[in-house]
Amino acid sequence: MIIAIDGPAASGKGTLAKRLAEHFALPHLDTGLLYRAVGRVALDRGLELDDADATAEIAELLDVAELDEARLRGREMGEAASIVAAHPKVRKALLDLQRRFAHQRGGAVLDGRDIGTVIAPGAEVKIFVTAAPEIRARRRHLELEKRGDAPPYEEVLADIRKRDARDAGRTDAPLKPAPDAHVLDTTALDVESAFAAALLLTNRHK
Ligand code: C5P
Repeated sequence: MIIAIDGPAASGKGTLAKRLAEHFALPHLDTGLLYRAVGRVALDRGLELDDADATAEIAELLDVAELDEARLRGREMGEAASIVAAHPKVRKALLDLQRRFAHQRGGAVLDGRDIGTVIAPGAEVKIFVTAAPEIRARRRHLELEKRGDAPPYEEVLADIRKRDARDAGRTDAPLKPAPDAHVLDTTALDVESAFAAALLLTNRHK
């Protein structure tokens, strides 16, 4: 069973994907980390994030085993990831790796922006997780506060709006629900209720 979880930044899709993977004992890939890693390496090497060829070369050589989540989670890395993710060559370079992950062990949970539309259009379960931008910004702000790295709330909200616009506005694999995705709006849901709703949707397909 392949479970595709898509949605905008800070919608709660990562937490949901992790919980579903644990519940069904399936491998989990947070595909945002791939784009974050490409951005990170490009910045470390002093390359321009706008350079499609140079960033695609990094994407081609990316080793999933070497993804260091702690280094990729920072606020500026989300922004860098969304810039490199708009290059079709970068997306193409990361395609096979994601498809192999989805199919190699007889199932998986993947979360991102284009799992249900591009990476695994045949996924048995597709959930598009969303929430109002103000709520997503509040959640992200709380998370950053816990880490002692919080800019003002208004800045977090502006970041989220900017990233939404870039991810939904790009021509290659824009952020949008697959036609057969279940839309799960978590604006008024806590983590447990969102998980319960996702479980219900998933169990219907088993
Ligand atoms: O999910 P996360 O916030 O870690 O993703 C960072 C960025 O990577 C997103 O804003 C998006 O531009 C890009 N991304 C993507 N396709 C995916 C996953 C992430 O374009 N499947």
